[in-house]
Amino acid sequence: MPITFERKLTSTPTSPERRAEILAKPAFGSVFTDHMAVIDYTEEKGWHNARIEPYGPLSLDPAAAVLHYGQEIFEGLKAYKNEDGVVGLFRPEANAERMRRSADRLVMADLPVETFVQAVKELVDVESDWIPTGDGESLYLRPFMIATEAFLGIRPSKSYTFCVIASPAGNYFGGELRPVKIWVEREYARAGRGGTGSAKCGGNYASSLKPQILAAQRGCDQVVYLDPLNDNAIEELGGMNVFLVVDGDTVVTPALSGSILEGVTRSSVLTLAREKGLKVEERTVTLDEWKRLSAEGRLSEVFACGTAAVITPIGAIYDGDEVIGDPEAPTGPVTSDLRTTLLGLQTGVVEDTHGWVTRVK
Ligand code: COI
Repeated sequence: MPITFERKLTSTPTSPERRAEILAKPAFGSVFTDHMAVIDYTEEKGWHNARIEPYGPLSLDPAAAVLHYGQEIFEGLKAYKNEDGVVGLFRPEANAERMRRSADRLVMADLPVETFVQAVKELVDVESDWIPTGDGESLYLRPFMIATEAFLGIRPSKSYTFCVIASPAGNYFGGELRPVKIWVEREYARAGRGGTGSAKCGGNYASSLKPQILAAQRGCDQVVYLDPLNDNAIEELGGMNVFLVVDGDTVVTPALSGSILEGVTRSSVLTLAREKGLKVEERTVTLDEWKRLSAEGRLSEVFACGTAAVITPIGAIYDGDEVIGDPEAPTGPVTSDLRTTLLGLQTGVVEDTHGWVTRVK
């Protein structure tokens, strides 16, 4: 049953001039729109009090479980506007399903797919003037859920708040699309066996901050995590999945292992690659294999993908003093083609044969 959202709109919206200024040069995740969608949950009432309200601070009891034991999960998805002003969401049900799996892992309230999608649609409907339309630009949506019960015993909270905020977004790495540099992380892990690596929870990202800072100090944009218990198998980049293009016609990505996030973009890329006649392999890829393929001249391209990153070419990886790849390498043909198709589908330029786009208005 659809839930009813009450609309409590702001009396002080951003002026059209200021909004135009922001949309002319969108960054990533630093400016937010005027409203947010919020729904509360208690064991007695279930999900209730759905509303669109002015964007602003949430009020929390200092004993709220999220502040102590990190019961928090989130999602990332995007709304696009095409040349005719049609507004669409890319695969929102896939994000909703993943949030249900994350909630299950962190023993949080189960938010029905329908309610998740409805909340996102309601917010985008109100904020559609905030969608930038330049190449690779969109309205980034950040749904998240926090545990709100004031209780310090260690057990799952009995109350939650689900919220969606929106931010006009350009390239995640800033400026024009360029190949990124990746640091091979040998000391820190993002997630371990049996941990929360496949859930999209804040704690995974908190643990990635230190290696990310160290990588940035070494001139790199991101970190690639390894599984030292499995011959240094490549895992993911912390906020993105990773793909290798081998011999120009084979697309290889690490298989889902329980410690890798199942990216919606990852699964879309796999489908598109198959349709383009590329060979697709989801399997273990070790750092040694990566180096060997590169030394043999068989590693045609490498790219990262995620909702925020879309498809971003990887120029080189840095394993201590060893550099594998070319930091200045131009974006390869497979990476470019997949990126163009994916963005084309998202913006309505390429026919949506998969039913991936949900129209908002
Ligand atoms: C996303 O791609 O939406 C993420 O949540 C990852 C983060 C790098 C922003």
